Amino acid sequence: LGDPSKYRPTIHYSPPSGFMNDPNGLVIKDHEFHLFYQYDPYAPIIGNVHWGHAVSGDLVRWVTLPVAINETAAGQAFSGSAVIFNNSLIAAIYTRASETKQAQELAFSSDNGRTFQEYKGNPVLDRNSDSFRDPQVFWDERTHEYKMTVVKARKHQVLIYGSRDLVNWRELSSFGPAGILGIDYECPNLMRVPTEDGHYKWVLAISINPGSPLGGSGTQYFVGDFDGTTFTPDYYETKFVDFGKDFYALQTYSNARAPLGIAWLSNWQYANFTPTGDWRGVMTLARGFGLRYTEDFKYFLTQKPVGLENLYRREVPVGAESCSVPGDKALEIHAIVELGPRSRISFSLLSENHEQLVWGYDANAGQAWIDRGRTFGFSQRFFTDKMSVAVIPGTTNIDLHAIFDKSTFELFLDDGTFVGTCLVFFEKLPNCLRYSLVGDGRVTNLTVNVLTP
Ligand code: FRU
Repeated sequence: LGDPSKYRPTIHYSPPSGFMNDPNGLVIKDHEFHLFYQYDPYAPIIGNVHWGHAVSGDLVRWVTLPVAINETAAGQAFSGSAVIFNNSLIAAIYTRASETKQAQELAFSSDNGRTFQEYKGNPVLDRNSDSFRDPQVFWDERTHEYKMTVVKARKHQVLIYGSRDLVNWRELSSFGPAGILGIDYECPNLMRVPTEDGHYKWVLAISINPGSPLGGSGTQYFVGDFDGTTFTPDYYETKFVDFGKDFYALQTYSNARAPLGIAWLSNWQYANFTPTGDWRGVMTLARGFGLRYTEDFKYFLTQKPVGLENLYRREVPVGAESCSVPGDKALEIHAIVELGPRSRISFSLLSENHEQLVWGYDANAGQAWIDRGRTFGFSQRFFTDKMSVAVIPGTTNIDLHAIFDKSTFELFLDDGTFVGTCLVFFEKLPNCLRYSLVGDGRVTNLTVNVLTP
């Protein structure tokens, strides 16, 4: 330990110092992708929340800018979103949170997000509640209106509002309680997602904390339709966006042509304790979303990493065991495997002191898994005790596309059908990659690339 750069990812955004949680204000303007985020600039633990700010032209090289929205005497600047207003301004809509009140506020920027002026008539949406937060706003073409989703957190409800001017909001409908409730609903995100058969449906993601199935926080979603007023799910069975333990507060770019999102790559169970020194918090890679249909699963989200094509790739030759793998760089490990119906493939990254990060697929069980339990950099029980599993029935050919970036791991399975994301803290960064196949089958392709900005 001691070296705070040891765990700092190279192609994922992390703040220079201080504490980062949810992505906020995702909006595109003048060829810049904005990433605002929940940020305590003073200490690497949650406490005095501001809106931090970074921008990128390609979603993989990020430049940190000064804090955009401050904590004030009225309270902290909690999560929210951003839209383009009057074709020229960036409007941020966020929760001002004090001990006793959470209400929605508005601020405008005329210099591409570098500075914001708070609207004088704040708050713009106030229910006199201490549990009303995380507004997500987007422009709805069909009704020529902004729409907002926002949660009554403790009541497990998402409210939907409409407005033409971002100042006057009228309540249109509510959704919930539904799915897994947890203690709080947080960070709702309603998005229009294309289906593989050429249509589209609406997906409502709701983050819950604590009380997610793997413990702590997690992001569930419902698939359905949104008629401009009401979100109606096709069915109430809940699904999770990611089968890993560290994918929270998903938000999508409010004005992207196709759904494009980023989540916080952590979990409230241990986010304040991870061993990264004077900074904490990392974002996922940007992901594009689609919907696929199967009889068993009905419509479900598919995900692809976006932006990797903008990185330099250098191939590292590998075999069944290779110890020339540079674990201090971002690694893309892509395997295509054919398995017999009773076979199992597993991959591991290993360090010199016998730590392992293991992932694989068991055709007999129809399950994929990620296990970080044998890494020694962070011994918190909630961090090491559970392994993440996705059920993928009936597959014998599978592709496993993994991105390891020092302290992050994202596994895209079966062309983005299932994705598992987690933090991982090796005491010594790994240098070997090994695979083993139990039963018959073969690894038809294995490519390892070092990805550099
Ligand atoms: C989710 C959350 C939000 C809140 C913010 C505070 O992680 O708890 O509900 O706005 O973080 O930082």
